[in-house]
Amino acid sequence: MTDTELRVSKIQNGTVIDHVSAGEALHVLSLLGIDGTEGTPMSLGMNVPSDRLGRKDVVKVEGRELSDSEAEVLSLIAPEATINIIRDYDVVDKRRVERPEEVGGVLVCPNRECITNAGEPVEPTFAVLEDGLRCEYCGELIREDITAHLRN
Ligand code: CTP
Ligand code: ZN
Repeated sequence: MTDTELRVSKIQNGTVIDHVSAGEALHVLSLLGIDGTEGTPMSLGMNVPSDRLGRKDVVKVEGRELSDSEAEVLSLIAPEATINIIRDYDVVDKRRVERPEEVGGVLVCPNRECITNAGEPVEPTFAVLEDGLRCEYCGELIREDITAHLRN
């Protein structure tokens, strides 16, 4: 990449989430629980040109790696995403996200009556279907805007 093409500076240590579906970067940030007030250095590229995707978003976060459940939910909002782990400016690990059969951990069930919302020690778990997510406990469906159902 030439200097004129580099839009967002390199990071030293942390994670670069690349090839994010154009327009989804802010959802990725809410998935990571980042709203900017933490003071963590972070940069975003949105709707930047990509050979593979046409346009893409890029999210770079210093000093942070993704948990497995964050990576799983990421696969649902950005199926082409690449997770690059950066140490001392080098890419030391690069992996594509994989669509899981089940997701848990970072999402809450929209059904207020669900056992997972009753203060019991039950981890919300959702089956990943073609057209959405289904709560394993009450059957409630999440069809769109997965990030509206993130745990705070
Ligand atoms: N990156 C970064 N800071 C670093 C190293 C890399 O921000 N210290 C970013 C690059 O700008 C790129 C991503 O991390 O967006 C992956 O880096 P690299 O593997 O070097 O780029 P590509 O070969 O273009 O990646 P791919 O093959 O996955 O498209
Ligand atoms: Zn439920």
